[in-house]
Amino acid sequence: MTNHPSAKKITICQPDDWHVHLRDGTLLKGVLRSTAKVFRRAIVMPNLQPPITSIDAAFAYRDRILASLPRELSFTPLMTAYLTDDFSSKVLEKGHSKGIFFAAKLYPANSTTNSASGVSDLRRIDFLLETMERIGLPLLIHGEVTDPDVDIFDREAVFIDRHLTPLLTRFPDLRIVLEHITTEHAVKFVESNGPNLAATITPHHLHINRNAMFLNGLRSDFYCLPVVKREKHRLALRKAATSGKPCFFLGTDSAPHLRSSKENACGCAGIFNAPFAIESYVEVFEQEDSLDSLEAFASKNGSQFYGLPSNKDSITLIKESQTVPKYIEILNDQGQLEHLVPFHAGETLSWRIETKNSNGSE
Ligand code: NCD
Ligand code: ZN
Repeated sequence: MTNHPSAKKITICQPDDWHVHLRDGTLLKGVLRSTAKVFRRAIVMPNLQPPITSIDAAFAYRDRILASLPRELSFTPLMTAYLTDDFSSKVLEKGHSKGIFFAAKLYPANSTTNSASGVSDLRRIDFLLETMERIGLPLLIHGEVTDPDVDIFDREAVFIDRHLTPLLTRFPDLRIVLEHITTEHAVKFVESNGPNLAATITPHHLHINRNAMFLNGLRSDFYCLPVVKREKHRLALRKAATSGKPCFFLGTDSAPHLRSSKENACGCAGIFNAPFAIESYVEVFEQEDSLDSLEAFASKNGSQFYGLPSNKDSITLIKESQTVPKYIEILNDQGQLEHLVPFHAGETLSWRIETKNSNGSE
């Protein structure tokens, strides 16, 4: 679809979210609509407590998601396996052939929220990666080292140099997504190592740099992992996302945490961007004079990488401002009222979704 840079209205094929945390229990019920009202499909992260490490757990989690889905919405959750040091390759293969494992997620142990049971050393799972390469199961990577002697702002770059480069040599046919990239180094690396390597880019890494976390005080709403970096990295990410290149696609990394867990002596990492995710992205594409590339990034490149057809329906965005609420009320598992703060809380965004258009053929 052609969308002129100065357009006031744009229509794109319905997008997918290739990286989202939907959580579980009351939180799942509270956040699912935000994703499913816009995105037709989403890759659902497995870092629950306990994590999704079996076929049964993945089926059961998918059932809970579908049971929480508002009836009028069509949404397909694509499930992932949480890799551990002792994950069995038979289980991986069986889960793939049963169609429940769409991909497998590598969390280096202790790299982020609920990653304590992640992989302690990449070399220990070569046997799993061999299986994945053979059966065509994609590997999704949280690309950060956890060594305490590596500065937190360098952890992605060091992961790429120390672990990802040799991994690509060992498994040239393995399809890999470096998730939520945050640096110029990652952009360049992904661009020059295709076509089996791709990357997702979040809305927040396109909008904020590390100053946002410290603006007039400590701002836990802007703390996520991998942590936001310097301005030059944000600019490189904006260029990559809006380039239209097939190796970059949409993955919100929407990661809701209750306000009480964020505003805490040890606040959780994660930004809840699902409620205004597509509006957040479109703002960046407009600012970069690249509305023509929005559809590739949001609706085409990801499905193409994963070998899926594009969605049949479309959505129309219109240039009309809307103010993002300061918080969204939600019940916690104990039935008490809590707050979730959405990304862009209190800000005015220039676009809103006008319609979701069904072509009636599904
Ligand atoms: C995610 C979460 O809360 O589950 N947090 C985050 O900061 N992105 C985990 C992750 O994707 O790293
Ligand atoms: Zn994530």
